Amino acid sequence: MKSTPVKTCSPGRIEEVWRREVARFNELHPESLRQHRLAGQHFLFGVPLHWMQDWPSPSPLFLREAQGSRITCVDGLEYDDFCLGDTGAMFGHTPAPLANMLAGTSKTGLTAMLPSVSTASVGERLACMFGLPFWQLATTASDANRFVIRWARAMTRRSKILVFDGCYHGTVDDTLVDLVDGKTTARASLLGQVYDLTQHSVSVPFNDIAAVKAALATGEIACVLTEPALTNCGMVLPQPGFLEALSAACKEHGTLLALDETHTLSTAWGGYAKAYGLSPDFLIVGKAIAGGVPCAVYGFTSAAAQRMRDAKQAAAPGHSGIGTTLAGSQLAMQALAASLEQIITPVAYEQAIGVANGLAQGLEELIHGHGLPWSVTRLGARLELQFCATAPTTAAQAAAAENDALTAVLHLGLLNRGTLLTPFHNMMLAGPATGHGQVARLLANLAEMLTELGA
Ligand SMILES: Cc1ncc(COP(=O)(O)O)c(C=O)c1O
Repeated sequence: MKSTPVKTCSPGRIEEVWRREVARFNELHPESLRQHRLAGQHFLFGVPLHWMQDWPSPSPLFLREAQGSRITCVDGLEYDDFCLGDTGAMFGHTPAPLANMLAGTSKTGLTAMLPSVSTASVGERLACMFGLPFWQLATTASDANRFVIRWARAMTRRSKILVFDGCYHGTVDDTLVDLVDGKTTARASLLGQVYDLTQHSVSVPFNDIAAVKAALATGEIACVLTEPALTNCGMVLPQPGFLEALSAACKEHGTLLALDETHTLSTAWGGYAKAYGLSPDFLIVGKAIAGGVPCAVYGFTSAAAQRMRDAKQAAAPGHSGIGTTLAGSQLAMQALAASLEQIITPVAYEQAIGVANGLAQGLEELIHGHGLPWSVTRLGARLELQFCATAPTTAAQAAAAENDALTAVLHLGLLNRGTLLTPFHNMMLAGPATGHGQVARLLANLAEMLTELGA
């Protein structure tokens, strides 16, 4: 059988297509460009959060409306949204149960530093969904991760944490380290960081159980914080047995295991740990957990809860350094209740994963048809297209497969054709409202871009 020759895209061709797509964006989006200029008079970089500058387009799209899996920009153009707010809108934009709840909050209040009547039932639903008996709320996943680290240090009286190279757990200083030439190093891109992060954080390669064991054997590690699969450096899945071995090593060395399921919630109802029978000490979920209303949750075992009570009682009264004023507000609790009861349902997963199946198959056919040395990695409704023939097993391999210029031109070309991908890498997220027609359009648009690029 004749094998398909492996092709790549030449930098010259990428540059040529890039210039064409920039011109096309400018022609199609006069109002977004105008809004960007106006916003720039009072917002740094013309955006309320400077990450919004990371889209490949000359200006970010300015949003008019977002519903289900579609968004409309201020120029009146519609998009199939496979970014879904970089996971915050994983279960669809403006889901009806949440919109109804928000419309009815005028009497119940938004925040009062008091628990409300939905608290007990939300706790029951969280316990049922994720299999952990005790919970606390935070406002963002970053906060939840920060608080778990703090609890873990208080419980174990150990100062260090272990994270994996290529991790991202939000703006949590302790986790913003990389592995450079085998040494834990503060991430080079950090702004304004003055503390020596390497004093209390250790970074080792994902899927390297020997490195984990060596670090844990020091007896200094309070907790390992990891996603079950790395999703922020492309996507790196755990090798068979790695997470089980990690869990066993943590138990052996008295280290707590914290799984950040903020992105891997895409795997199945109940997240990755439930689907694969893992038993972490802590589990963290943010972003989409309350349907897009700022809220994050962290759950823990009964044994952990007892150690947390002990730690709190042993400390002097006063600030614990854990929590923020708006965490667990009525707004967050009601959003969480609506979300857990009516939005994050097994049926929603069935729909999203059904569509993701078609997307994965279509991408693989496209890659094969073009003879490209690329691969598709997958966690339920979440897919990652990576520019390497086999899925990476470490962040270093994932990084070696990155091609910023190619990613940017593909994203801009897709955007100009009505398909939106997350700006940071080639992640595609299907939600319950994502339709097969949207997948077909994504694949047709990608095929057109590949042809333009001579791939
Ligand atoms: C795995 C993971 N955890 C936590 C966070 C932090 O979420 P947030 O920025 O909402 O605090 C992120 C953000 O991308 C993430 O990818």
